[in-house]
Amino acid sequence: MGERSWASSLLSLIMVFACLSHVLGDKSFADVHSHDHQMRKMQAFKASFVRRDSISNSPSPTPSAVTVTPSPRVYHVTSYGADPTGKLDSTQAILQAISDALEGPTDGFLMEGISNLGGAQINLEGGNYLISQPLQFPVVARGNLMIHGGTLKASDNFPTDGYLLDLSTSSSSGPEYLFEFITFRDLLVDSNFRGGGIQVINSLRTSIDNCYITHFTTNGILAKGGHETYIRNSFLGQHITAGGDKGERNFSGTAINLMGNDNSVTDVVIFSAEIGIIVSGQANLLSGVHCYNKATGFGGTGIYLKLPGLTQTRIVNSYLDFTGIVAEDPVQLQISNTFFLGDAFIKLKSINGVVNGVNIVDNMFSGSNKGIDIVQLDQTNGPFNTIDQVVVDRNNVKGMNLKATIGSGVVQGNGTSWTLDLNPILIFPNLIKNVQYTFFPSGNSFVNHALRNVSNNQVLIESDVQVPASVFVVADQGK
Ligand SMILES: *[C@@H]1O[C@H](CO)[C@@H](O)[C@H](O)[C@H]1NC(C)=O
Ligand SMILES: *[C@@H]1O[C@H](CO)[C@@H](O)[C@H](O)[C@H]1NC(C)=O
Ligand SMILES: *[C@@H]1O[C@H](CO)[C@@H](O)[C@H](O)[C@H]1NC(C)=O
Repeated sequence: MGERSWASSLLSLIMVFACLSHVLGDKSFADVHSHDHQMRKMQAFKASFVRRDSISNSPSPTPSAVTVTPSPRVYHVTSYGADPTGKLDSTQAILQAISDALEGPTDGFLMEGISNLGGAQINLEGGNYLISQPLQFPVVARGNLMIHGGTLKASDNFPTDGYLLDLSTSSSSGPEYLFEFITFRDLLVDSNFRGGGIQVINSLRTSIDNCYITHFTTNGILAKGGHETYIRNSFLGQHITAGGDKGERNFSGTAINLMGNDNSVTDVVIFSAEIGIIVSGQANLLSGVHCYNKATGFGGTGIYLKLPGLTQTRIVNSYLDFTGIVAEDPVQLQISNTFFLGDAFIKLKSINGVVNGVNIVDNMFSGSNKGIDIVQLDQTNGPFNTIDQVVVDRNNVKGMNLKATIGSGVVQGNGTSWTLDLNPILIFPNLIKNVQYTFFPSGNSFVNHALRNVSNNQVLIESDVQVPASVFVVADQGK
């Protein structure tokens, strides 16, 4: 075979292949469509069957019952003209899908006045949609609806005070709760450095699950009023980074802002933002939260509890990574089973000098031997002077200074007084509420001894005669 004819037969072979694959490609494409079509026909047929069955006992079935097919409650946004490539503005199309879903068939009520949409779904079909206006739900008093499965990205002219997904109302006279059991799931929400991600106002039992929320400038998620916004298994960061970012000093915004009660944040990573989570409502639970949003050294805060006087917050099983916790006048606060890395610490900030019912126990702290205390007081507004039921204990440290509300130690000496200075460990200055000690003289002497002074966190034990002795002391600031 000559070189030329060899090449030409190769060429024809390739062409045959190309044609074949073209045909095959078209065929499988057509197949999928006709399969879809067949499935729909079959479902409609089945549905009509079920209807007929269900009325088989009735003496005169209405003919319409046989022919009506129940309309599906999955709203595909591309059917409304949304552009899944993210090139054209899809705001109106998605708003129309949301509107149709909210105006769709309802099955009774959830909370009084909230119509049950029965689990209607707005399906983003794995697309990436450009959005120029907040997707504010046009109708309120609805529940049991899900939006899922795609990306929403703010356009360059998106309003900087808006939220891409917006459960709020512009009307001043709404019902007590605007929505109930709305689920946002499997979404990437990209605020494009214009405003926030998701806003939930006066709603009940909102679920935000497996969402990735990024490029926000205000809040990634804001939950205000209402209760039980559950944020689960999600990732939030203003900038997409995996730590050690050169621009970390400039991170701004808040990943999660909870301005309401009874919310929960579980298994969530916050990888950039000035403040990871800010809480100003009661009875919120933060569990399994990993904050590496902005290092304390750069002015960041992992979790900021801004409810002086009635905190009622639990932070458990979490991971504060180079960024810490600030609590203003904490009253009822639990921080436990949490890992603090990179000199991260807890700061109790005095507003009116109250700290009451605080347990900071069973945590681990790791630092780089810079002499950083694991729990610190900020008394710039005035000293803490109402201190009760505070337990900081059973934490372990590596490369940081252990601080606690319970201090203990032993002093040995030969004389009439024994002083133990507990300032290196005790958190509050000049506060000892309770002391237990054991006086252990060497030899077989019996002497009189007494606790004489505890001021300035220095425990003084005296005896009536000179004696060599060891004195074991436990002092408590908590109760
Ligand atoms: C941080 O912001 C300042 C002021 O806007 C700017 O000069 C600097 O370049 C920024 N740094 C980084 C690393 O982006
Ligand atoms: C304790 O001090 C006294 C008086 O200085 C002395 O006699 C005695 O030996 C000392 N005891 C011990 C165990 O050092
Ligand atoms: C306790 O010790 C402090 C100094 O630490 C002193 O000012 C105070 O007078 C002492 N109190 C008594 C009852 O001795």
